[in-house]
Amino acid sequence: MPAQIIDGKKVAEETRKQIREDVEAWVAQGNRRPHLQVLQVGTDPASTTYIGAKTRACKDVGISTGTTHLPDTISPKELKKDIYKLNNDDTIDGILVQLPLPNHLSSHDVIESIDYRKDVDGFHPMNVGRLAVDQPTFRSCTPAGILELFKYYSIHTKSKHAVVVGASNIVGSPMAIMLSRENSTGKATTTICHKYTKDITRHTIDADILIVAAGQPGLIKAEMVKEGVIIIDVGINRIADETTEKGYKLVGDCDFDGLIKKASWITPVPGGVGPMTVAMLMKNTLLAAKKSIYPDAE
Ligand code: GUN
Repeated sequence: MPAQIIDGKKVAEETRKQIREDVEAWVAQGNRRPHLQVLQVGTDPASTTYIGAKTRACKDVGISTGTTHLPDTISPKELKKDIYKLNNDDTIDGILVQLPLPNHLSSHDVIESIDYRKDVDGFHPMNVGRLAVDQPTFRSCTPAGILELFKYYSIHTKSKHAVVVGASNIVGSPMAIMLSRENSTGKATTTICHKYTKDITRHTIDADILIVAAGQPGLIKAEMVKEGVIIIDVGINRIADETTEKGYKLVGDCDFDGLIKKASWITPVPGGVGPMTVAMLMKNTLLAAKKSIYPDAE
């Protein structure tokens, strides 16, 4: 039997509907409408596309938003000055600096300059640290979205072997933390594979759940997994395709056509994980506005 499809687009729409209701209830109680401020340094087209999706999602759920466009020549000092202004502005709930940044800027330094209470990406060391010790925190949106998909489809992670391919700060690393912790849908035995892993198949073949965020099209093939595996493909790669209007198509890191015959569940690309990332950003922004994670009294 072919794998069942994990429909991220549908789950994200339902999640957004719930967030829209929660935002309206919050505003109806006399509170200010939540606001997400996005900072874009430079004009990278992929970043512009992602920011467009985030802005549309804000409009959809009733979160107010704005994008600050900054030149790619901006100095670290000037950029941080802009961030401090937003940190001190009580009408701003969430701050998101779109990555990657130009080479002369340190993303670590920039992320640390964001007030962790407004870090709706969940990238600040304060939030990553709290995640690692199982405390309430802003969770990185892509791994948090994957856990929402598991919840929606009643896919249990407890005592399973979860293998994460890719150890980035944005996806792989927080994903592995979430899966291995006691909290909520974690409790899995977790392996992280990365570019230094010698024989990746040795690990992937044993996975009950395989989460792939490596940025390499076609990396995972059917012969590398066992029957019944759950495949979560986080990759979004542009492949040249003359038959499409844009001249390219989007593919993940997994050989979907081969794996669908062997897996029990699989995410498509596009329409799998991507829409959930944006939905989780909306959720984090509402949490920031409500001060749910870091109350004033703290
Ligand atoms: N670049 C790629 N993914 C992300 C993300 O989730 N947040 C930010 N800020 N930049 C990104």
